[in-house]
Amino acid sequence: MAAEKVGHGIVVVGGQWGDEGKGRIVDCLAEKSDMTVRFHGGNNAGHSLHFDTTSLVLHLIPCGIVRPNNVSVIGNGVVIDPEVLLQEMDDLRCLGIRCSPENLKISRHAHVILPIHKQLDQHRENNSKNSLGTTKRGIGPCYEDKIARLGIRISDLIAPSLLKTKLERLLEYHGDLDKGELTRLHNQFLTLGDLLKPFMCDTGDFVEGALKKGARVLFEGAQGALLDVDHGSYPYVTSSNCVAAQASIGSGIGPKWLKEVLIVTKAYCTRVGDGPFLTELDQKSQEIFRDKGNEFGATTGRPRRCGWLDLPALKYAAQINGATGIVITKFDILAGLGPIKVAIGYRSSTGEPITFKQAMDCALSGDHWEVEYQEFKPMDQVPESIRNFDELPASFRQMCGLIEREVGVPIIMVSYGKERGQEIMLKEKCF
Ligand code: IMP
Repeated sequence: MAAEKVGHGIVVVGGQWGDEGKGRIVDCLAEKSDMTVRFHGGNNAGHSLHFDTTSLVLHLIPCGIVRPNNVSVIGNGVVIDPEVLLQEMDDLRCLGIRCSPENLKISRHAHVILPIHKQLDQHRENNSKNSLGTTKRGIGPCYEDKIARLGIRISDLIAPSLLKTKLERLLEYHGDLDKGELTRLHNQFLTLGDLLKPFMCDTGDFVEGALKKGARVLFEGAQGALLDVDHGSYPYVTSSNCVAAQASIGSGIGPKWLKEVLIVTKAYCTRVGDGPFLTELDQKSQEIFRDKGNEFGATTGRPRRCGWLDLPALKYAAQINGATGIVITKFDILAGLGPIKVAIGYRSSTGEPITFKQAMDCALSGDHWEVEYQEFKPMDQVPESIRNFDELPASFRQMCGLIEREVGVPIIMVSYGKERGQEIMLKEKCF
C-alpha cells in the first residue's frame, strides 16, 4: 500500500511581549505553505507586511491572505469584531488582494465582540485604578463572556431567534437591557451575519481535512508568550493563551499535527501597555530605539517601551512553547547604537541568582532585583543584502552563539529589514 501523504503544522508565536515581527515571518513562510490559521486574540493584534510597493497592517485576517495560493482561516479561538473584519476584507480588496469564501474561512465557533465589550474595556481603561494599558478593542470582556458561557458565536449571527435570546441574556447579565437597544443590536448583527455567512465554516474539520491530504499549515500566533493569560506577567497580560499549545485548541485540530514551533524575538525587546519590563532602558535611550526601529504600536499607535534582549525571558518563552526554532528579527536596528547589551541572568536583593519568573514576581510585588548583562562590541552597519551567516556583523554572530547556548534551541532564521527577501534561513529543516 502506498504511504499516505501527511501534512504538518508549523506554529509561529511571539517569544516576547508581542510586536516581534511575526507577520513578516509568516508572510515569508506562507510562500511555500497551503494554509495560514489565526487561533487566538482578535483585532488587538497588528501584523505589518511590506511587499512590492504595498504596506499594510492586518488585525484579524491571517497574513497568508496576501499569498495567492494560501487559504486563510480564522479559528474558533479568535474573538471577532464583525465590522472590523468586514472593513479589513474591503481594504484588502482595494489593494487588489483576493478575499473571498474560497480563500478565507471563518470559524462558526469564534466569539463575537459586541459594542458592550468595547465600552467595558474603555471604561476600565479610563479609570486609572483598573487600567492595564489594553488596546481598548473589547478583547478581555469578550473572552470573559465566552468563559461565562454567555458569549455570542459567529454562527449565532445567522440564527435570528437564538441570537435574540442570547443577546437578551447577555445584556441583562451586564445590567444593560433596554428593549430598543436590543432590537437595534439584533438587526445590526443579523445584517453583519448575512455578510459573513458565505465565509462561515467548521474550520477544525477544514484544517484537519487539509492536513490529512498533506497540507503544510502555518499557525499564526498573535501577541507573545509574556502576554499569555496563564504564563505571562499577570495581570498585565492579554486575555487569551498566546503559546503554541493554543494553536491546537484555537483551531480545532489535535496537537499531533504541530511539528514545528518557531518563537520570534527581536534582537532587543519592546512592550506596549503597563506591567513589568525588566530590561527597560532609560527614556533617552528608548527614544533612540523607537526612532530607529519605528517602535509604535501597529494597532493603537502608542509608543512602545524599549529595552535590551532578555535571554532568561526568551529561555522561558522557549520552554512554555516547546520551541523547536528561534527566529530573530530587526537586528539591523542595533547597528550604530554603541555597545549592545543582552540580559543573561537575574539576582535577588541578597545577590542570589533567581529565575526570570522570580525576578518578574519581585517586580510585580515591588521587591528589589537586579539584571546581569553581557556586553557586545558596537555593530557595524548591516549590508542591504545578506546571503549567509558569515556575512552577518561579527557582534551579531557572537550574540547568536550566546542565544543558542543559553536558550538551547537553534536559530533557524534572521531578518534585517521589513522588505521581503531581507531574511536568511540558517537551517532548512522542513521549511
Ligand atoms: P488587550 O489584549 O487589548 O486586552 O491588552 C492587554 C495587554 O496586551 C496590553 O498591554 C496591550 O498593550 C497588550 N497587547 C495586546 N495585543 C498586543 C499586540 O498585538 N502587540 C503587543 N501588545 C499587545
